[in-house]
Amino acid sequence: MFPDRVLSGMRPTGALHLGHYHGVLKNWVQLQGEFPCFFFVADWHALTTHYESTEVIGESVWEMLTDWLAAGVDPQQATLFIQSRVPEHAELFTLLAMGTPLGWLERVPTYKDQIEKLKDKDLATYGFLGYPLLQAADILIYRAGRVPVGEDQVPHVEITREIARRFNYLYGRQPGFEEKAQEAAKKLGGKRTKAFLDLRRAYQEQGAPESLDEGRALLEQSQSLSGADRELLLGYLTGSRKTILVEPQALLTAASRMPGLDGQKMSKSYGNTIRMREDKASVEKKVRTMPTDPARVRRTDPGEPTRCPVWQLHQVYSDEPTREWVQQGCRSAGIGCIECKQPVIDGILREQQPMLERAQKYMDDPALLRAIVDDGCDKARQAARETMAEVRDAMGLGYR
Ligand code: TRP
Ligand code: SF4
Repeated sequence: MFPDRVLSGMRPTGALHLGHYHGVLKNWVQLQGEFPCFFFVADWHALTTHYESTEVIGESVWEMLTDWLAAGVDPQQATLFIQSRVPEHAELFTLLAMGTPLGWLERVPTYKDQIEKLKDKDLATYGFLGYPLLQAADILIYRAGRVPVGEDQVPHVEITREIARRFNYLYGRQPGFEEKAQEAAKKLGGKRTKAFLDLRRAYQEQGAPESLDEGRALLEQSQSLSGADRELLLGYLTGSRKTILVEPQALLTAASRMPGLDGQKMSKSYGNTIRMREDKASVEKKVRTMPTDPARVRRTDPGEPTRCPVWQLHQVYSDEPTREWVQQGCRSAGIGCIECKQPVIDGILREQQPMLERAQKYMDDPALLRAIVDDGCDKARQAARETMAEVRDAMGLGYR
């Protein structure tokens, strides 16, 4: 299996803004150097909410991929692809759907929340209910151990774990599994074999999670096991079943609350964003028209930075001396708001410069971007096909 594999996706529903950059993409760029990463455009997920206005999806796909590359996602290191070009996701979704209890999907907190929040759309659809199941298929088909997501997505990773566990429980039985596992356990050698079997018993009889952790650690440390034996024993440890689908962990992205132009979190739905690749004049205009401390009506009125959205952006973009200058100058009415905003403008433009440069390469040569994605789709599809072959076999569908 691929405990190191990282997988994450984003829905193509518009241009990305600096909130995406600070909250998600910087993290992806970090991860791509540490693990094998798969990043994909979740266009089918976008359809669950945009099935009546699909144009925005097509318009956003390439733009979003360009934004990723602009942020520094490196196609030499990470595999970039589009969900709908790996139709195996849909196949796994269908197969998993057969045994997934409706209640699991109805209880996902985002389900009722989103229906409530997006009242202008009719989300009482089969596809929308299945959103987390499609996401589970996305993750499980790559047997990814790590899924970087924001807090709102944690319930989706949680249900993915349950779906994997249920799948392995239903279809992970193999003839002769018990005997094979016993044989493999012997290869651990002497004391370790006994320790492993004891930990397994402790876990299965008392459900003690420490025993599971210790058992896993023991398997990971053991030099004498082949990959296949380790996998077999992992299944044996967790419940006498073969691990066909891997339970992923959410890699919680350190909560970055990127402030928007009005002091609320930056979000398209608040209309307070700066796009990752926004032109200079527009950045200047947006920051210059930002609201400031409402008590500072005249230039001569002292202000209070903690009541000002501009101050929040200084926390992201300014160094300590500049922040000192802001606090001093604002509270003593020594500086004006326009003056105060300039370092923020400079900071944003400085951050955007390398992004614009990286993106330019792909704007000049769109075929280059297509080739990167073609290649990524091929790689992803290869990995997905391998899992599907095993899934079909395990389910007894190997006859086709
Ligand atoms: N639901 C995710 C979001 O809205 C997007 C997504 C789809 C995803 N499939 C995924 C994220 C698989 C991680 C893994 O942000
Ligand atoms: Fe805000 Fe700066 Fe004006 Fe103070 S001086 S109110 S921190 S913009």
